[in-house]
Amino acid sequence: MEHVDRQKQMVGEKAVDYIENGMLVGLGSGSTMYYMLKELGKRVKEGLHIRGVPSSIRTENWAKEFGIPLTDFSEVERLDIAIDGADEIDPNFNLIKGGGGSLLREKIVDAAADRFIVVADESKLVNHLGAFPLPVEVVRFGWQLTKKQIEELGCSAVLREIDDEVFVTNNNNYILDCRFDVIKDSEKLHSQLKSLLGVVETGLFFNMADEVIIGRNDGAEVLKR
Ligand code: A5P
Repeated sequence: MEHVDRQKQMVGEKAVDYIENGMLVGLGSGSTMYYMLKELGKRVKEGLHIRGVPSSIRTENWAKEFGIPLTDFSEVERLDIAIDGADEIDPNFNLIKGGGGSLLREKIVDAAADRFIVVADESKLVNHLGAFPLPVEVVRFGWQLTKKQIEELGCSAVLREIDDEVFVTNNNNYILDCRFDVIKDSEKLHSQLKSLLGVVETGLFFNMADEVIIGRNDGAEVLKR
């Protein structure tokens, strides 16, 4: 196993310690979450009673595979805790998310939680957001026009493709990966993007994360605000 995967496994498993009996749990998306879900499934088999709300179809499938009971927002209004990965984390816990394309559902789930814990390998820590191209979810109709408007904000945007096929999100939208290089004011950029016709959501998550668990070669480090 690569050291990055070991770090992801370590923090994914550690995050399960935050989950207590009876909790409603937001289940994030991405490869780090795979390890969290696997460990959570083990604890459920040992008698832990929780219900999870998945933030992507992939997470939903993993949760079912590992025997984690699920619910949704037709049954619950708030979550006790959400655990999710990230693509970049700055010193103020501003995040870029959406590398896996699940940013919209992730944001809905993470925002509904009383406590939001981020789990990531140490490569995700940055001084400034932006080296990782910012994922922006856009409606399919007229995406070319939306792309032009986004680029006027000072980036180059690329329509996400996987294996030569245009990537379609769980919400039936497209993703534009926007290279800004350095994002100086994530709140301002987020509201500029959100004001554009055709933009559904951005991968900028600010004022949301309460704690960050970082995987390092010598163990997991918990960063608090
Ligand atoms: C999914 O859309 C993302 O927001 C993930 O949480 C993020 O890409 C982190 O993924 P890994 O855990 O695979 O690094």
